[in-house]
Amino acid sequence: MTATEPLTPSRFEHVPLTVFRDSVEASRAVAAEIAALIRERQAQSRRAVLGLATGSTPLSLYAELIRLHREEGLSFRNVVTFNLDEYCGLSADHPQSYNQFMRVHLFEHVDIPEDATHIPDGTRPSHEIDAMARAYEEAIHAAGGIDFQILGIGRTGHIGFNEPGSARRSRTRLVALDALTRRDAAGDFGGEEHTPSYAVTMGVRTILEARRVVLMAWGEHKAEVVRQAVEGAVTAQLPASFLQEHDACRFVLDANAAGALTRYRTPWLLGPLDDQGLEWDERMTRRAILWLSNKTGKAILKLTDDDYNEAGLQDLLRVYGSAYEANLAGFYQMQHTITGWPGGRDPARTKPGDAPVRPLRASSAGVFPKRVLVLSPHPDDDVISMGGTLCRLVEHGHEVHVAYQVSGSNAVSDESLWRALLFARDAGFSTPEAARRIDEALASFSSTGVLAASADQERWKGLIRRHEALAAARECGVPAGRLHFLDLPFYRSALPRRRQLGAEDIARMVRLLEEIQPHLIFAAGDLDDPHGTHRLCLRALAEALKASAGQPWVGETELWLYRGAWAEWAADEIDMAVPLSPQEVLRRRRAIFRHETQKDQALFLGDDRREFWQRTEDRSRRLAERYNAIGLAEYEAIEAFKRYSPEAFLQLTPL
Ligand code: F6R
Repeated sequence: MTATEPLTPSRFEHVPLTVFRDSVEASRAVAAEIAALIRERQAQSRRAVLGLATGSTPLSLYAELIRLHREEGLSFRNVVTFNLDEYCGLSADHPQSYNQFMRVHLFEHVDIPEDATHIPDGTRPSHEIDAMARAYEEAIHAAGGIDFQILGIGRTGHIGFNEPGSARRSRTRLVALDALTRRDAAGDFGGEEHTPSYAVTMGVRTILEARRVVLMAWGEHKAEVVRQAVEGAVTAQLPASFLQEHDACRFVLDANAAGALTRYRTPWLLGPLDDQGLEWDERMTRRAILWLSNKTGKAILKLTDDDYNEAGLQDLLRVYGSAYEANLAGFYQMQHTITGWPGGRDPARTKPGDAPVRPLRASSAGVFPKRVLVLSPHPDDDVISMGGTLCRLVEHGHEVHVAYQVSGSNAVSDESLWRALLFARDAGFSTPEAARRIDEALASFSSTGVLAASADQERWKGLIRRHEALAAARECGVPAGRLHFLDLPFYRSALPRRRQLGAEDIARMVRLLEEIQPHLIFAAGDLDDPHGTHRLCLRALAEALKASAGQPWVGETELWLYRGAWAEWAADEIDMAVPLSPQEVLRRRRAIFRHETQKDQALFLGDDRREFWQRTEDRSRRLAERYNAIGLAEYEAIEAFKRYSPEAFLQLTPL
């Protein structure tokens, strides 16, 4: 689905696009363009003026520019830079300031002259900001204007910090940050309450005056806002849409960020699939039929030829001959995702006439009991996302292991730990040395209202989550001896959005896999979690599978992805749907309740402030309703999984 050349715009798209397989490839291409510009200007003894962004998006671009400098002699001596924005109230050496960000991620590693870099000054008192902003605009003008502007896009549709409501003619100025933007940044600041409320940003007009603009976006969480910016109307409610009016602007996307565009989500609306190099395979057929059923509000088997024709699905009708045949194909595909036996049946107890073990691979049908490994990035993802399935697997007699990948200590509030410490102290459960350290921590909490950062604090918080996980697993019937607390080190290092996997992370995963040699692995395929932890945990699994590739069990293992706490798989992506009874839903709720410290976390994370058990139940009920609406049986709730082949993982490019 991806190409490295600009795509021919579809009739839905109002801005040119290039879509790459992943952000690494995409960043390389953008870096090459920037390098070409810099070199061209060097040859003319002129300067190249770059507009730069911060955030997680340009990290791989800056890494590639540094590589070009080190390995291919790209010099930045003729480069002048202007950054888009800076938080207010942070001094230039504050670790979260954009000044600091630029030094750490680019400036310190290349030969750019220090006086050639410009970043708005966030420390000015408010009455000086207007004058500073005017001077910033004048400096851009004096440098000859921006030749090449790099942008990311916020989930509000902001570019720079031009939040919804920003006028097309706005220039560099003081702005208030949108609540969603602050929540997205909260991880970098240790909570929303510590996140700045104001920033200074270049205006929309300042950005539009750049001679060339490239907006980059990676990841599924950007897909919807990218779709609106590319396909929607130009509106101040979505400032990135103003880029449609620029003559030399291009969006550079990875496959996930492009995923909501009409050309990928509903390509049949663009004409016959053949003409687009696509085909009506099972997945596409199912997607179109589910889309049609949703659009018409009809169960699949009630869809008529007219429905297909009116919705622009003549092409599918042509392939199947009639609505009747197409309906059956879509209906059975969905029916076959449903199983009450997520690990397969005990062959000794299977009677003739019992339903087949679909959707598990037929080759594994005779293996019983199976060794099952559930990978839970944080200590509660297992029960939140697949608590019902976990209970079933145990009940069916499989050997179920749960491995908690990170300690989860970051999500324990000081208040929770403070209460636990009070308990330890008042119950007198401590050695004199422990008592001294506990007293020290309690004293810091009394005087400042927060616990002083320390290794003790991190360890204690990790322990709290470990105990909660033990209690929840007990609720699901998993014995303590089959729980594995990996405490992957990447989680402890650096700021959430800047973490990287290291050799020890992979080594711990490899040891776990070799110890268990699982027939089934369930892992979080939730690539959209607010901290990026799930993404790295999945990557750690992929790398560990790659490292274990020679082992005989690797070829046999079946890998299933659950979607995590934040979202559900779209119905057309589901390969296994496990229905739950009302009792199982309650049991899962009890297990989630064991994660007591996470109750208040829901208040701080994401846009949805409901507690985790509420999200889980709403989500799995909504999915059951969706299955019912397309004409399948009516269940209380459904947990859903998508099949992933380890081979697909192994092909991922390295980060
Ligand atoms: C950064 C900036 C912002 C970010 C946007 C996306 O200087 O002005 O517009 O580009 O918030 O942030 P990330 O890349 O962290 O998703």
